[in-house]
Amino acid sequence: MSDPSSGDLPSPGFPTARPRRLRYNPLVRDLVRETELSPRDLILPLFVRHGKGVRQEIGSMPGNYQLSVDTLVDEVGAARELGVKAFILFGIPAQKDARGSSALEDEGIVQQSLRALRKAHGPDVLLMTDECFCEYTDHGHCGILHKRDGSLDVDNDATLPILAEQCVSHARAGADVIAPSGMMDGMVGAIRRGLDTAGFTHIPILSYAAKYASGFYGPFRDAAESPPQFGDRNTYQMDPANGDEAMKEVALDLAEGADMIMVKPALSYLDIIRRVKERFRVPVAAYNVSGEFAMVKAAARNGWIDEKRVTLEILTSIRRAGADMILTYHARDVARWLK
Ligand code: PBG
Repeated sequence: MSDPSSGDLPSPGFPTARPRRLRYNPLVRDLVRETELSPRDLILPLFVRHGKGVRQEIGSMPGNYQLSVDTLVDEVGAARELGVKAFILFGIPAQKDARGSSALEDEGIVQQSLRALRKAHGPDVLLMTDECFCEYTDHGHCGILHKRDGSLDVDNDATLPILAEQCVSHARAGADVIAPSGMMDGMVGAIRRGLDTAGFTHIPILSYAAKYASGFYGPFRDAAESPPQFGDRNTYQMDPANGDEAMKEVALDLAEGADMIMVKPALSYLDIIRRVKERFRVPVAAYNVSGEFAMVKAAARNGWIDEKRVTLEILTSIRRAGADMILTYHARDVARWLK
């Protein structure tokens, strides 16, 4: 008798085969577990804004805050004690304009944060930066605008040089990993050349290669104050209906020099995570986004689900699908639970 799940390998049937044999003893279950979840695999997103002593909870993301540089340093310290060592920073600038100029300033909010975190925590924390313009532009789109067929749209090629400039500025301020999220064509190549020319040949790029135009970003856009002021992001982010197109995006980004690949969101795209991992065999990150987080928190607060159990199940499923690392707002809670 052959087992359909293992291809052509012969396998005995019942009663010789009894899968439950490996489930009776919890220590056996530990031995045969295929997927491990550890705080080492998690990256905590953090939001920083100007000011002092700011710790403003984000309504739709309980336990997550808009922080100022000083409270950010404390927040990272507390997360570090729990075992979370990797962070990705999102900046909320004091001023926005049409070109997102404040993203490029050495005194920009993310640049200041990087220097302060490095000073306080040294090399023991991994600092990633999200590279995009939607938080910095007054129109909330992810780059510079131009008119195309009579309507405003992001100008791909005009955005590339300023994107590279933003990345170099972040690397100079101490970023360990550069994570471009704007879904511009050619962005990874432009950033790689920019970093290399500036002497940052050693800084890896984690590309948001397969980033979908998703309804699950809602709470984030409140947190980062970055919703588009008109239209949507459908001309640059991917159509949720497409899978083959994600393979093309990933192939292009790898050819341009991406070191790691991100799929975002995570839960509605577990098939994409799996396909990317199997096809390309490179480090894969999954972004368990704000809306996915908010749904769990809301249901848990109503007493409808067991938060700890559901969260661990969700994150384990993302790892099982093929993600090596997960960006998640649950990182602190998970680290506490697994301690
Ligand atoms: C910036 C960016 C977004 C997210 C991460 N980087 C928002 C967007 O594309 O609108 C969303 C993350 C989340 O929902 O947690 N481009």
